[in-house]
Amino acid sequence: PRVVVLISGNGSNLQALLDAQAHDELGGDIVAVVSNKADAYGLRRAKDAGVDAVALPHREYDSREAFDAALIKVIDRHEPHLIVLAGFMRILTPGFVDHYRGRMLNVHPSLLPAYQGLHTHQRALADGVEEHGVSVHFVTEELDGGPVVIQAVVNVEPNQDIDALIEKVHAREHLIYPIAVRWFLEGRVKLSPQGKATLDDIP
Ligand code: GRF
Repeated sequence: PRVVVLISGNGSNLQALLDAQAHDELGGDIVAVVSNKADAYGLRRAKDAGVDAVALPHREYDSREAFDAALIKVIDRHEPHLIVLAGFMRILTPGFVDHYRGRMLNVHPSLLPAYQGLHTHQRALADGVEEHGVSVHFVTEELDGGPVVIQAVVNVEPNQDIDALIEKVHAREHLIYPIAVRWFLEGRVKLSPQGKATLDDIP
């Protein structure tokens, strides 16, 4: 199975996925990486791994619709089974989301449904939570609102330092994203017609 990864920046999650692939643990092949920012370091990671790396700067398009249409063209050239959002910092149009319904995953740094949107770590700490973490979920029209596939929990210490928290969450992103992708590519995890994420037993 073929995977296309969308990024906007550093691409450490992309790296975790490339590493899993190199160890035959991804269950498929990353055939292209697309970034809406030409200077994203993740594009370099893709090239270094011998993967097609495409820059598609959103500023060159007049509207979200025009950008998303161009993005679909680039992605669908590769006939992917799965689209993986890995730090892709663009809000997608409903048409784009619908086009890839049931075959697009995102990683979000919170225990969804808590803390959708930006600045999740700051908000969690400000609320004095004892647990924080990361979720991988199917992408639906609701931003960070799609059904969760897998989560990892991080304990928040008293007087927790924010940078240490961010680092702990990041490490767990790298751990669980390749697992979620493998489950999907093996056909074990699906988005049901009722809009729930379902996980089958190991065959
Ligand atoms: C991660 O924190 C992810 O949860 C969020 O964007 C960040 C991407 O980091 N959606 P990286 O580019 O994979 O290093």
